[in-house]
This record gives sequence, structure tokens and C-alpha cells, in this order.
Amino acid sequence: MSGSVHIRRFLPGEETALFGVYFTAIHLVASRDYTAEQVEAWAPRDLDMAIWRKKIREIRPFVAVLNGELVGYSDVQPNGYIDHFFVSGDHPRRGIGSLLMTRIIEEANALCIPELTSDVSRTAQPFFAKFGFAIVEQRRPEVRGVVVPNALMSRQLE
Ligand SMILES: CC(C)(COP(=O)(O)OP(=O)(O)OC[C@H]1O[C@@H](n2cnc3c(N)ncnc32)[C@H](O)[C@@H]1OP(=O)(O)O)[C@@H](O)C(=O)NCCC(=O)NCCS
Repeated sequence: MSGSVHIRRFLPGEETALFGVYFTAIHLVASRDYTAEQVEAWAPRDLDMAIWRKKIREIRPFVAVLNGELVGYSDVQPNGYIDHFFVSGDHPRRGIGSLLMTRIIEEANALCIPELTSDVSRTAQPFFAKFGFAIVEQRRPEVRGVVVPNALMSRQLE
């Protein structure tokens, strides 16, 4: 990868750029494991941006920055739940997800959170497993009227 990736807190105003990360992660990468109908329901082109901005401000993610471009983001909530975890579909398998996960684990340890959990897509399950997460149960949530299967995964912290 040319240039180094830097992880920092999200700044207000970056919500639209993070939608680009979410959109390409799902349409270019997760699309290998889900049907076109599931992909469209999960990341519609015309998603309501007011709702999106509110969601991103609520979860207060960490972002990954490469040469000034936002290329990934992920959050960890006070109860240990990871709500979003996405790396741009234009920068896959370059260690960006690993840097974000390392930062999330550091943050959780600093906050004395005992366990991390997440509803993890089929695509991300091998990545989460690499970081010590195990499947708790298979789930079939409905997103905008379409079932998009995932799995609840968890990992204990020290
Ligand atoms: C899952 C995701 C976050 C991984 O990000 P990434 O930056 O590509 O991950 P890394 O480059 O740090 O990968 C580290 C290791 O995890 C594993 N891994 C990552 N993606 C994988 C995949 N699709 N299949 C199998 N193993 C994978 C590999 O062991 C990889 O090491 P390697 O590339 O040397 O083999 C990213 O692919 C993504 O955003 N996917 C689509 C959206 C999604 O499903 N998000 C999660 C919602 S819960």
C-alpha cells in the first residue's frame, strides 16, 4: 500500500464520505456472499442521508485515513457492541480492517469492557474469527423487507 494508514476519531462533516465506504464495502466486497436483492436492501443508493448522518454521529466511529481519504470506519459502544465495521471496497485486504480492529480492542480494554459482540456478515466472519471472535448464533434479520443473514459473534477481553 502506498502511504500509511492513520486511525483517528470521526469528525462531524465526514458522514457522507463514510457512506461511500459503507456503499463500496457492501456493493464491491460483501456482494460476493449476498444476492443483488440483499445488497440493494442493505445499502440502497438512495438511503435517507439525514437518518445516515444521525446514525454516524450516534455511533462515533474511529476512521481509517489513507493519503487524506477515508478508507474505513468502525465503532465500539460502551456495552462492547460493534455496530458498523466497513473497509472501502476500493482498498480490500490491505490491513486497514486489522488496524481498525486493533484500535477497537485497545479502546475496549481502556474502558474495561469485558466482551466485544457484533452481528457479523458472512463476508466479515473469517476476519472476525482471525481476531478471536466465535459465533454465538446464526441470525436472519430483515433489512428494508429483505432477509440479510449474519451471525452474532463475541470475544472476551482481558
Ligand atoms: C471484513 C472487512 C472489514 C475486512 O477488512 P480488510 O481491510 O479487507 O481486512 P484486512 O486486510 O485487515 O484482513 C486481515 C485478515 O483477515 C482475513 N480476511 C479479511 N477479509 C477476508 C475475506 N473476505 N475472506 C477470508 N478472510 C478474510 C484474512 O486472514 C486477512 O489477512 P490476509 O489478507 O493476509 O489473508 C472488509 O472486507 C469489509 O468491509 N467487508 C465488507 C463489508 C462487511 O461485511 N462488513 C462487516 C459488517 S459486520
